[in-house]
Amino acid sequence: MPADFLPSRADAPRTLWRGASLATMAPGKPWGWIEDGALLTEGARIAWVGAATELPARLRADDEIELPGGVLTPGLIDAHTHLVYGGHRAREFELRLQGATYEEISRAGGGIRSTVAATRAATDEELLRSALKRAQALMSEGVTTLEIKSGYGLSEHHEARCLRVARRVGERLPLTVRTSALAAHALPPEFEGRPDAYIAAILDWLPRWHAEGLVDAVDGFCENIAFSASQMQRVFDAARALGLPVKLHAEQLSDCGGSEMAAQYRALSCDHLEYLSPAGVQALAASGTVAMLLPGAFYFLREKQLPPVGALREAGVPMAIATDHNPGSSPTLSPLLMLNMACTLFRMTPEEALAGMTRHAAQALGLGHSHGQLSTGRQADFVHWAVDHPNELAYQFGHKPCQLRVHAGVPDAADLARIAPAPEF
Ligand code: NIG
Ligand code: FE
Repeated sequence: MPADFLPSRADAPRTLWRGASLATMAPGKPWGWIEDGALLTEGARIAWVGAATELPARLRADDEIELPGGVLTPGLIDAHTHLVYGGHRAREFELRLQGATYEEISRAGGGIRSTVAATRAATDEELLRSALKRAQALMSEGVTTLEIKSGYGLSEHHEARCLRVARRVGERLPLTVRTSALAAHALPPEFEGRPDAYIAAILDWLPRWHAEGLVDAVDGFCENIAFSASQMQRVFDAARALGLPVKLHAEQLSDCGGSEMAAQYRALSCDHLEYLSPAGVQALAASGTVAMLLPGAFYFLREKQLPPVGALREAGVPMAIATDHNPGSSPTLSPLLMLNMACTLFRMTPEEALAGMTRHAAQALGLGHSHGQLSTGRQADFVHWAVDHPNELAYQFGHKPCQLRVHAGVPDAADLARIAPAPEF
């Protein structure tokens, strides 16, 4: 049992949820399954979870909500997104369909750089409005925690602007938002031909973003078309000096050794990993780093090289799944479709896929102790699904099974009115 994340508070309102089965996603038995379960929230925390038949007789609740069957799971955690940006890249999609590769477009100054131009040209309000809309689409499929990266500003001012917009998304919506500073995403035009000078600039900017409270983690893109492992190492040294955790886009298009380097910094996650070597797998296993697999980008870029799922499984590396929502390589807003693709494309099991968007996704954000499972003391983030078994979440695609979303103990009001209407007098 993890230590309680949120302490018990005698004055917090207590709500008892019953009538559904629970996929707690706690390790131990498959799905952490509890047939006909009950869950007690106390303010923002979970105060009790178990089988309805084992509810303590003296348990006091201010409110009781009877659910019409179905399954409760932890709220989904989309732990890798690039949600804040201007414009879109539909034209680039057409060019790729005509034969141009993602790398060729990038080297010709398109790709990430074209989104940087559109993001710099957008106002704060425009960036916020579009990011809120995207976040709401993710929430409609059960997302309660969302990681948002910068990476389309690429200057001190514009990266900070994008990180502030990300923070604002978390303030405006019933959602936990974690930010990652991804200034080392691509080389901005002002630094053309001077990648080391750009890295030096990032080292200068990072402490100020951190002082403003904008950064929860530091990320980078380690790739031939982006930054080398040794350039990323300089950024990670700066993150370490500030006490910030790191993560890395690594081995997406080639094996650059990024994962082995990131493992030395005990990275929270390494992401993509199609070209991860056996040595890379061992390095992740030894450092407790999460392998963040992104089937949306694999699918949309029509990649052929699969991430080494079997080797990761064998080595006991926790695997997470995310949308990687971004305009260039994964313009999806469907976490449920990613569960399906994790199974069909990557041959993960439906249970591994759901653990990848709950328990292991929490770990990839440094929230492994407080989120991602239904257990006492954790934040009361959960979803009620109109399914008989959680394996249906990965089996279906294009369905809308999310009935009710609860964030920090508070249900979305419209969902609640629909699913458990107040009795009429
Ligand atoms: O996670 N790999 C690098 N970054 C993004 C893509 C960014 C873009 O193409 O705009 C990703 O796939
Ligand atoms: Fe990404």
